[in-house]
Amino acid sequence: MSNQLTFESLSITYGHGASAFTAVDGVDLTLRAGEVLGLVGESGSGKSTIARAAVGLAEPSGGRILLGDTEISHARGAVLRERRRVQMIFQDPQSCFNPRRSIGQSLDEALIAAHRREGTSTPQLRARKDEIANLLRAVALPAETALRMPAQLSGGQRQRVAVARAIAAKPAVILADEITSALDVSVQGSVLNLLKELQRELGFSMLFISHNLAVVRIVCDRVAVMRSGALVEVGDTVDVMTAPTHDYTRELIAAVPSL
Ligand SMILES: Nc1ncnc2c1ncn2[C@@H]1O[C@H](COP(=O)(O)OP(=O)(O)O)[C@@H](O)[C@H]1O
Ligand SMILES: [Mg+2]
Repeated sequence: MSNQLTFESLSITYGHGASAFTAVDGVDLTLRAGEVLGLVGESGSGKSTIARAAVGLAEPSGGRILLGDTEISHARGAVLRERRRVQMIFQDPQSCFNPRRSIGQSLDEALIAAHRREGTSTPQLRARKDEIANLLRAVALPAETALRMPAQLSGGQRQRVAVARAIAAKPAVILADEITSALDVSVQGSVLNLLKELQRELGFSMLFISHNLAVVRIVCDRVAVMRSGALVEVGDTVDVMTAPTHDYTRELIAAVPSL
């Protein structure tokens, strides 16, 4: 099964008629199997919209999205399950957990969904509890975290749980959308290191959306630059950072003092 995600001539329009706004305008972009691809660009350039479309949270008005050879845009039935191999992690880890479910229950749901998709029989509760403990260990959280409610965790802990839940889905692709922007600077690094380690170990592909070019330079193999719904340039991170071909990219890089 392929871990490649392809956006083909993707366009996404919000609203209708006179209030219609095209947030993504004919984007061709391939997230190669096993790579970390950075997606950068100023606020409002359409980065989140692209990611949301890949998990069905935004509807393409044109073009299509493929996981391997399977079209996952306009998904129905079995393809909906297949699309769960694409997992998104959001900026705000608070809003994406059911506040009335324990962390263990949320992880359990993700595990059960993954078993259903893979066609493997769902293990007994005790075995699932072991799996949940393993997931929590993988994100460096104690097993007791399973008993906690989302509101009882810090932002950094919740984001680790969000990573664990994404991993529980046995993902081919992870879309990480500004995942450390809401965290204290002191914990940003550890969450990023964790994700990068898991990516190396498990081999999923990752679209890493960030406005922080200093972080992108460390985390990403390649980088794509977006402006006003269109791609401006795509290339190896080192090349784009050291020899950008587009003025807009030069402006973005110049705006980061540490570079
Ligand atoms: N649900 C929505 N309805 C209408 N416009 C939206 C919606 N979501 C985003 N937009 C608009 O689409 C554009 C791209 O947004 P977004 O993809 O969130 O950009 P980015 O993630 O790069 O900051 C912005 O102009 C934003 O205001
Ligand atoms: Mg965004």
